[in-house]
Amino acid sequence: MAQIYAFANQKGGVGKTTLSVHLAILAHQLGFNTLLVDLDQQGSATFLVTGDGSRHHTLDGTVLDIWDPLKRAPLQESPIFGFDFLQASIGLDRVDRDFNAALAALKRLHLLESGSGPYDVVVIDCPPAPNTRQLAPLFVANVHALPVTPDALGTQGLKSMVSLSLGDVLPINEDLKVRILINRLKANSTKNKAIADNILKSLPEFTFPYILFDREDVRSALRIGKPYWEVCRDQAQKTAWYQLFLALLESTPIPDIGTEVPEPENADAILDTQFSARGGPAAPGGGSPAAPAGGNMPTAGGDPEVAEPEDGEVTHDTYIPDDDDGEEASAQIGEDDGEETSGEADSQDDILDQLSREAEGGTE
Ligand SMILES: Nc1ncnc2c1ncn2[C@@H]1O[C@H](COP(=O)(O)OP(=O)(O)OP(=O)(O)O)[C@@H](O)[C@H]1O
Ligand SMILES: [Mg+2]
Repeated sequence: MAQIYAFANQKGGVGKTTLSVHLAILAHQLGFNTLLVDLDQQGSATFLVTGDGSRHHTLDGTVLDIWDPLKRAPLQESPIFGFDFLQASIGLDRVDRDFNAALAALKRLHLLESGSGPYDVVVIDCPPAPNTRQLAPLFVANVHALPVTPDALGTQGLKSMVSLSLGDVLPINEDLKVRILINRLKANSTKNKAIADNILKSLPEFTFPYILFDREDVRSALRIGKPYWEVCRDQAQKTAWYQLFLALLESTPIPDIGTEVPEPENADAILDTQFSARGGPAAPGGGSPAAPAGGNMPTAGGDPEVAEPEDGEVTHDTYIPDDDDGEEASAQIGEDDGEETSGEADSQDDILDQLSREAEGGTE
């Protein structure tokens, strides 16, 4: 059975598509049989993996076909990245009225096979609306990958998305793990940093300490068919991007390989090329970034395993989560992003208590 990762957040523009494509790229590079499923009628993921911005302007040969048990899933291979995908359709919203039909359709994803056998990893890019195509994937997924931007708007819905997954979905889909991915941190924003720290401190069980910065060249990397860790020029972010997706793949053990995720064959080459091209140092340890040590989740607030900058490297973009005990926590999850962000952050216990209360009262 495939491991299914659903990238879902009702907030738009947080990086669902960008990060789901990156996860599919890494899974494919690591040798997993990988399928990307574009459930957004905007077709952004379809565009990124084909280079064709109008590819989704059709009802035929799209992911809609998995709603029909008599049809074969119209699997295609990305000419850019090499993994398989089910493309979007502008007509996808027609399936939103029937939740049970969506569940039945998406359950098929666990059983799909390519020419080379069953898929190991299925990545679903969900639309930015609290509709059937955002909710149903959570009921079939192993991992709810929840990208969030560390600003007021980005975090407003975070708590409700986490409690949706833990409160409403988990009692039914007991396999589900929630993994929060902090993306688009603006390096010069102290408020962004305070909110990111607060998310890490409030929800450490669910949050990776690899923070992705808002960088212009993220967009251009995918446009030239490369994951960001292959083009990023600063060591700390290169490592953070790579480690985040590696950790995400590790968060659900893949049956064929257990918990051991192999080193990518070309990681040394990727990193060495980047640095020799810029006359910089080799990657830390002379090779590819190591997988996070110790269990499925890294510990928040601890060593983010982001390399220290060498002399002469960019330092203003190097972000290390604060390691204090939070006495100055200045931004609450979901709070309004007023100019002054004061007040005590919810303690983790408060949040988890609240989540478990919501879980107990969760709807079927
Ligand atoms: N870390 C980043 N740095 C800079 N730009 C980014 C980063 N992550 C995503 N982006 C850009 O932000 C925009 C929104 O990203 P993306 O489309 O992945 O978000 P989304 O959550 O899928 O949006 P939607 O809700 O519309 O589907 C895109 O132009 C993307 O290239
Ligand atoms: Mg998107």
